[in-house]
Amino acid sequence: MSEQPARTLVTSALPYANGPIHIGHIAGAYLPADLYVRYLRLRKRDVVWVCGSDEHGAAITLRARKEGTTPRAIVDRYHEEMQKAFLGLDIAFDHYDRTSSKEHHAFAKAFFLELLEKGAFTEETRQQFYDPVEKQFLADRYIQGGCPKCSNDSAYGDQCEKCGSALSPEELVEPKSTLSGVTPELRETTLWYLPMERHEEWLRTYLADGKLDGEAHHDTAAWKAHVLGQCRSWIDGGLQSRAMTRDLDWGVPVPVEGAEGKVLYVWLDAPLGYITATRNWAEKKGVDWEPYWKDKDTRLLHFIGKDNIVFHCIIFPILLKEHGGYLLPHNVPANEFMNLEGDKISTSRNWAVWAKEYIEDFPGRSDEMRYVLASIMPEQKDAEFTWEDFQSRVNNELADVLGNFVNRVIVLSSKYFDSKVPNASQQRTETDEALCALLASTPDSVGASIEKFRFRDALQHAMALVRAGNKYLTEEEPWKVMKTDPQRTADILNLTLQVTANAAIVLSPFLPRTAKKMAEALGIDHLPWDAAGGEVVPAGQPLGALPILFEKVTDEQVEEQRAKLGDKKGKEGMRDVENEKGQTTFDDFQAMDLRVAEVVAAEKVQGADKLLQLTVRTGYDERTVVSGIAEHFTPEEVVGRKVTLLANLAPRKIRGVVSQGMVLMASTEDGGLKFVTPEEGAEPGDIIR
Ligand code: 2FM
Ligand code: ZN
Repeated sequence: MSEQPARTLVTSALPYANGPIHIGHIAGAYLPADLYVRYLRLRKRDVVWVCGSDEHGAAITLRARKEGTTPRAIVDRYHEEMQKAFLGLDIAFDHYDRTSSKEHHAFAKAFFLELLEKGAFTEETRQQFYDPVEKQFLADRYIQGGCPKCSNDSAYGDQCEKCGSALSPEELVEPKSTLSGVTPELRETTLWYLPMERHEEWLRTYLADGKLDGEAHHDTAAWKAHVLGQCRSWIDGGLQSRAMTRDLDWGVPVPVEGAEGKVLYVWLDAPLGYITATRNWAEKKGVDWEPYWKDKDTRLLHFIGKDNIVFHCIIFPILLKEHGGYLLPHNVPANEFMNLEGDKISTSRNWAVWAKEYIEDFPGRSDEMRYVLASIMPEQKDAEFTWEDFQSRVNNELADVLGNFVNRVIVLSSKYFDSKVPNASQQRTETDEALCALLASTPDSVGASIEKFRFRDALQHAMALVRAGNKYLTEEEPWKVMKTDPQRTADILNLTLQVTANAAIVLSPFLPRTAKKMAEALGIDHLPWDAAGGEVVPAGQPLGALPILFEKVTDEQVEEQRAKLGDKKGKEGMRDVENEKGQTTFDDFQAMDLRVAEVVAAEKVQGADKLLQLTVRTGYDERTVVSGIAEHFTPEEVVGRKVTLLANLAPRKIRGVVSQGMVLMASTEDGGLKFVTPEEGAEPGDIIR
């Protein structure tokens, strides 16, 4: 491909419509794409940026269940809310779509059928985990267990969010249903699988050498090391076939006769949403969508967070290649994670700075958040947002450097030169030359960094020009020089006005609102990248009104924001909502016979490290209960304890012993177990209600 593609198609990960947008999302997949696209537009390149809500999958159905509502109600609510959040932070997609639309269903079905016809899938009847209580098959977020690749003990059935590995339910250690908490059974079901092992060879060449079908495809040196590393380790671990359909009733129905009650796997349907979105964008514009996905002159870029890497670099490329006719990604500039005040950002734990709340608390100040997130963007490794750092960057960098510089340049030029850009002489001092040289090189430094997805560096280059301009102004002291040498004053102010205009141009992807105000102050209505590096505002040009660019962030505001987080932590607790079981009915609760019991004897179960066989007194009988607590308690430690017993649980044979009931335990966050002990004075047989 030539150095500059004819057109670029940019996608940002379709966010699940199951919760609000937070700054971790913004810093991961949206702000970098927004910066990149704004830059390409300044360069007048043909670029289209699509996104949309990911409205299928367990993320949605579990949220609906938790809130006691329908998946439709959930996706409608968050589809609206997420768009407002993006808008509030000036994240300006060309098109924002949704995967529950008719058009998307039709397209995803057709794509699936095409793959089926081409023999890309195998239809297999295999044993899958099944929740006998909830009467449903378990995959993805419906099942949790230990990650086979890291220490995370609550990895999902399709992915470990801690190490990013893509998993299958059968790989989980001690899997449990996230619906009922029970250990699932195995039952047979027929699903369509993608035999990924068939694709290992070309994927290796594609990812390691940037070659596809024997031709150069992309520059692998331009890919981030952590992205390639994750893909390599996944392929090295051996690709396996992966189910591409699910036994669920929410999603794109499998378009095959007899497949009622089955839908496409969300990670098959969601990335196809990028194509649907492009088609809908093109229709709206009255242009052809196909070149954006099919023409070899197009560059396809997926902006995502690191937990989406394997889906975009391995699974989606396999699907696209199997279908044929579509481009494969030329780069996947995934970001790592943004942490918050010393902890991982988490929707389920409500530990986040929500875009919506930020916009309400700091109205009209989206640039400040964009600036801070771009400054600390987790490009190569995880990063951390703190309110103190936010305050310091806004006050010391935006207000004291950029705001102060622009203010002084405009005030002085207005005062001394009748609100016009003064005429510069041809006389330049060494200091002038140095500043001019920096001004000339800045657009290229900023541009080159953006093209390499190094947004932090790009911002530093842009701010270096502003800092240099500010220092120049302070040292040249035009307010003193004016008394003796008006022409020198004109030279100083002309140059600093050019710096202001150049800064507005190179900062405009990062600070669109501020750049617009700067342009207005300079009396110009657009910011031409072509002119950057030299004179942008001609002598004699009338200047506009003095803008107020930034207000300082006060200590009280920092405190308020911190307290808000503290409140959230305190009120919401720190546990995963996903681990909770959704709503139950009063009748179901009433059906449980919970009572106080006393352990009167205990022994280890032969050949089972985890089990103790307990004899418990229930007040009306003595019975045997097998309990998985042997790794936490010795038999001696439990004899004599009062416990809470689920007395009417159907008897089950465990390791040859019939267990009649269940002793309730609390599992602590560090993986420990504690007895749910009734208060002193409660006696065996007392009913718990
Ligand atoms: O991780 C997520 O939020 C997913 N909804 C991303 C999907 S990206 C794409 F494939 F649609
Ligand atoms: Zn893991």
